[in-house]
Amino acid sequence: MKIGRLLLKNNVFLAPMAGVTDLPFRTIVREFGCGLAFTEMVSAAGLIRGTGKTCRYLDSSPADRPLGVQLFGVDPETLAAAAKSAAEKGADLLDMNMGCPVKKVVKTGAGAALMRDPQRATAILRALRGASDLPLTVKIRAGWRQREINALDIGRIAEECGADAVILHPRTADQGFGGRSDWGLIAALKAHLGIPVIGSGDIRRPEDAALMFKETGCDGVMVGRGALGNPWIVGNILSHLSGGDVSSPSLAEREETIRRHLALVIDYYGEKVGTRDFRKHLLWYTKGLRGGAQFRKAAGKIKDLTSTLAALQEYFQALG
Ligand SMILES: Cc1cc2nc3c(=O)[nH]c(=O)nc-3n(C[C@H](O)[C@H](O)[C@H](O)COP(=O)(O)O)c2cc1C
Repeated sequence: MKIGRLLLKNNVFLAPMAGVTDLPFRTIVREFGCGLAFTEMVSAAGLIRGTGKTCRYLDSSPADRPLGVQLFGVDPETLAAAAKSAAEKGADLLDMNMGCPVKKVVKTGAGAALMRDPQRATAILRALRGASDLPLTVKIRAGWRQREINALDIGRIAEECGADAVILHPRTADQGFGGRSDWGLIAALKAHLGIPVIGSGDIRRPEDAALMFKETGCDGVMVGRGALGNPWIVGNILSHLSGGDVSSPSLAEREETIRRHLALVIDYYGEKVGTRDFRKHLLWYTKGLRGGAQFRKAAGKIKDLTSTLAALQEYFQALG
């Protein structure tokens, strides 16, 4: 698949997720073959101010390629400057966030609030297009609310402003993550636009990805929550799409991947911050596994690397 001039090895992507899709997590998911991964949303204003935490969101590595950097903001000039900065820092693709429903973001007019402000959306996309020749995508929602579904209009604006693809998570902003995503809208957007359309929403099993391709005709799919504690889903989707087998990882594989992920997290954040940060992944990795509830209770109290490794070893030994 191609987005602009960027040739991707496949069309199964990892969705941007704030607080989740950092360099260690992307690295682990990429091991299972995903064609493109994104940073979490990065504040354009923070990036040009050079705020340490914001800039770290763009940290990458040779294994972490190609990398989509997702920007959020409201001021076209600031976004244009941020686009240049992201390009200098090594982004392979820029994505504009027009879907975040979080209050703190929408009250500034950014994120999904842009779905209600086509004029500003246009100005932003023109500014981004003018600032960088990197492939440009726009991630949108169905609309602000049920009575204001306008993904087709905003998608058309994106195309007219020179975006190379549109990513659609077909829930309204006021829906948050509730209800089901409306894949019919992905199909409608695909029929409406000439540029590639990527679908996001409710891919939890490899069969869901195949169904999204079939039902919507989309050019690519994006996995978000389905990859939490389950990086294997990407490999399984790719295998299923090419007619191969789908299999759950063995206990040994599972433990090995968790350990590798933990090592990447510690290496990146240091032991104190890293072990704390990894707790959420431990909870996701053990969800639905035998004895998982008990392990998760214990995992909440883990404070250092030694106790994390000991808890993991004990848990997997008991399971085995
Ligand atoms: C914890 C979390 C954080 C998210 N952060 C972002 C974000 O920073 N930018 C964005 O465009 N979407 C974000 N999303 C939305 C996802 O990219 C995706 O579109 C949505 O979760 C639907 O896909 P799914 O059902 O596969 O999770 C986030 C979702 C979750 C669950």
